[in-house]
Amino acid sequence: MRTDPLAYLDTELNSLREQGLFRPLRVLDGEQGAQTSIDHRSVVNLSSNNYLGFTSHPRLRERALSALSALGVGTGSVRTIAGTMQIHMELERRLATFKQTEAAVVFQSGFAANAGTVAALLSRDDVIVSDELNHASIIDGARLSRATIKVFPHRDVAAARAIIAGLPRGQRTLLITDGVFSMDGDLGALPGLCDIADEFGCIMMVDDAHASGVFGSQGRGTVDHFRLHGRVDVQVGTLSKALGALGGYVAGSRSLIEFLYRRARPFLFSTSHPPSVAATCLAAIDVLETEPQWMEQLWDNTRFFKAGLEALGFNTGVSESPITPVIVGESSLAVRLSDRLFEEGVFAQGITFPTVARDRARVRTIVTAAHTQHELQFALDTFKKVGVELGII
Ligand SMILES: Cc1ncc(COP(=O)(O)O)c(C=O)c1O
Repeated sequence: MRTDPLAYLDTELNSLREQGLFRPLRVLDGEQGAQTSIDHRSVVNLSSNNYLGFTSHPRLRERALSALSALGVGTGSVRTIAGTMQIHMELERRLATFKQTEAAVVFQSGFAANAGTVAALLSRDDVIVSDELNHASIIDGARLSRATIKVFPHRDVAAARAIIAGLPRGQRTLLITDGVFSMDGDLGALPGLCDIADEFGCIMMVDDAHASGVFGSQGRGTVDHFRLHGRVDVQVGTLSKALGALGGYVAGSRSLIEFLYRRARPFLFSTSHPPSVAATCLAAIDVLETEPQWMEQLWDNTRFFKAGLEALGFNTGVSESPITPVIVGESSLAVRLSDRLFEEGVFAQGITFPTVARDRARVRTIVTAAHTQHELQFALDTFKKVGVELGII
């Protein structure tokens, strides 16, 4: 009889169950939306990254459909063999213009863009200096690179400087931060970090996954928001969140992009985007440039909802973006809050250790441009009801 070599997985899963951390996947019954049906329950959805409501924007849908008809459902190859279509090149040119850089390269996801880029740029003798709350894809890329990883406390520019000042002169060093931190909604310390990068000659990189389409003129991201053009060598953005489709990109110098074409492993060894995805992304940039109302609505909704949560007495941390955490402390309480909200018609995902520190468990809310004031007010009323019931406020 063969013993099951994967039996340890059940032990791990049971341990999660015992801790109340075994979360079922929530399943959408139809398309993504501000008010949608999830697990057969109609809810106000405060958990997507669909910041601008672009997942169902008619112009994006039309462009996807026409590319599907004209160019087929897939590319059948990686970019470096037979999987580069004109539409991929057009998207990269468009992104470079949008980000005001020489060039851009598109990856299959933001995760692939971060991990593939960090791992390609650095190697064993190099050093990566990284904010402690940087995204998992940066951490994985750093590990893959085999460079020495040095972590500085969240947003602590002085600590980052002290680490870098202690390195040998001429040490190749990557200084890296998220533009917007996905669990707290605060901004990376980009201006201060750029000063350090200038002073010590570091490669400066930002992951603008949650800033793309949200911060900066027409959604150009935090480099534009802080007016740091020309001082950030590697800008990563996603096409998967505010832009409504799927993918990640790196914008920077022509040499950087030519190097990544030849060395970034997800680009070399994983099939390229279906043309409909590239077409959707092109349409998303068109809409960003011609329909400012979505970003305006996103920020109006953000201000309204954040002020509402704060007025109710919730701890919303230090957010500066449409991501607003409701921090409750204990993991079990965050899970209970999320479950009760869901039963009452509001979907706000509970986030627990190890994604956040043990005593900082929370539910995370993200408003979008597609929410109506009525839906947001319903969500606030529900937070009030459940927050009082659970003794949080
Ligand atoms: C900060 C950050 N970077 C990168 C990613 C990865 O982006 P994508 O979903 O496009 O893979 C995410 C999203 O999950 C993120 O939150």
